[in-house]
Amino acid sequence: MQKYHGSELNVNSSSPSHSSRPSEVFAARNPPNQLPWDHTKKTVAILGSGWAATSILKDLDTEHYNVVVVSPRNYFLFTPLLPSCTVGTLELRSIMQPMRFITRFKKREVMFVEGECRSIDPEKKTLQVEDNSEVVGALSSQTIPYDYLIVACGAENATFGIPGVKEHACFLKESWDARKIRTRLMDCLETAAFPGQPASEVSRLLHMVVVGGGPTGVEYAAELYDFLEEDIAAWYPDIAGKMKITLVEALPHVLPMFSKELITYTEKHFAEAKVEIQNNTRVKEVRQKELVVQTPSGDIETIPYGLLVWATGNTARPVVANLINSLPKTLQNQRRGLVVDEYLKVKGADSIWALGDASATKWAPTAQVASKQGAYIASMFNLLARNEDDKQRLAAEGRDAASTAIDASPEAVGPFTYDHLGALAYIGSDKAIADLPGNVHVGGALTFYFWRSAYLSNLFSLRNRVLVLFDWGKKSVFGRDIGRE
Ligand code: FAD
Ligand code: NAI
Repeated sequence: MQKYHGSELNVNSSSPSHSSRPSEVFAARNPPNQLPWDHTKKTVAILGSGWAATSILKDLDTEHYNVVVVSPRNYFLFTPLLPSCTVGTLELRSIMQPMRFITRFKKREVMFVEGECRSIDPEKKTLQVEDNSEVVGALSSQTIPYDYLIVACGAENATFGIPGVKEHACFLKESWDARKIRTRLMDCLETAAFPGQPASEVSRLLHMVVVGGGPTGVEYAAELYDFLEEDIAAWYPDIAGKMKITLVEALPHVLPMFSKELITYTEKHFAEAKVEIQNNTRVKEVRQKELVVQTPSGDIETIPYGLLVWATGNTARPVVANLINSLPKTLQNQRRGLVVDEYLKVKGADSIWALGDASATKWAPTAQVASKQGAYIASMFNLLARNEDDKQRLAAEGRDAASTAIDASPEAVGPFTYDHLGALAYIGSDKAIADLPGNVHVGGALTFYFWRSAYLSNLFSLRNRVLVLFDWGKKSVFGRDIGRE
């Protein structure tokens, strides 16, 4: 690890990658020296490198803590633009920010461990971490001790135990999911174009089915439709007309979290675009080439497909499910995540906090909530450290901390509160919808530019913003790449 060289130290707790001045662009490529680990300080372990974890990292004052971050992927992923990567509107690397571009700008060295936390021992306060990447060294498993643990490892895709989903469907949560979808989509097209392919097989291969009419499913279907209209039609003129997109949703309508007007607007827009929505249709089984569904009339039918994208929401990751099972059942009774108190502390556990999609709260599992919770946790830990310092100073002066107004408990920061800024979703053909505070529900082309600018300004760094702008420009001029990786 790098050593602290006193006067050379140029501490800056926030990442310079957020700024846009030339000097700061230079700073972003030239990280400063950092304070070394201090074994007299407490160690905070953070699981994850997603919205919640990076939000904590951005604001946490590492002068007061040793920090270790554990995640199987060494980058932050801007998930709201992930559907655009499934068809090549954007390239994956444009929405990824390497974790070391963040950790190297903290005051104190942050240990980043690329590995999956397999289990948590709340008694011994240790994590069992495994390197599950392709390249594994002589040592692939390690026990990491912590004083405070922050569980921000998100959730995995819910399959509700429906047979065949894991084997045959593609998910859309991680960068590798988007890559797999893009490759499989091109494979379906080329296989359908194979000379002499029987007509029934061509229509199966060109049937793209999306299960789940939440925002993930809707945004993916929208991107796919754009790809069909703007690129596939030109490069595959013989088969493009046979391509079909179907969205299967178990409830009476798609996008249940959006306002009624916007649901109607989206369903009408999809109908015009010939994206078929099959509402009130529940998938019962997934086979290699067909889905088994229960239709609104209760009949069981099969739907042949070439590509199937499964987007039916979240469930707890195994490490979270195991922690839930190890805690008192009366306190931990949710399958979708860890139950926390109003300070995001895990109920029934000591020194463990959970946030984002790993927790089960009254808020929807969104990036917006996760990042706000991250900022809250960071401010709580910063306050806790300052209060500890004050307590020690008072003790050194021979004064009693209890007799002062210093509350050295983590709860001193007050409970977590959340102000919803609204929800946005892309619905295709350069149209978006927005549910905004104050009962404002808008949809259309103007909302699309609002959607684009909101996400552009929220991207992690100037580097990401430049790359995304470049990708949008590239797509407009040259179209999307149709090569199969
Ligand atoms: P994540 O961001 O998923 O991060 C979890 C992290 O934990 C990852 O780094 C992962 O690699 C790591 N991890 C996994 N397993 C382990 C383990 N065992 N040990 C350690 N680390 C582990 N929300 C919005 O508000 N607006 C949007 O427009 C929006 N669009 C979305 C589009 C898509 C396609 C998807 C999938 C989600 C979208 N969301 C959106 C939801 C949003 O992405 C999530 O709510 C958000 O990512 C949750 O943040 P998180 O930090 O809890 O989890
Ligand atoms: P979701 O939970 O929002 O929606 C899943 C949908 O799948 C539901 O409508 C459900 O009825 C349906 N479903 C479940 N089982 C089914 C079955 N067997 N057959 C057919 N349909 C079935 O999940 P999603 O879209 O993955 O989103 C997860 C979270 O991420 C949500 O909180 C969402 O708000 C957030 N998100 C937000 C976005 C945005 O704001 N633009 C974009 C993407 C995700």
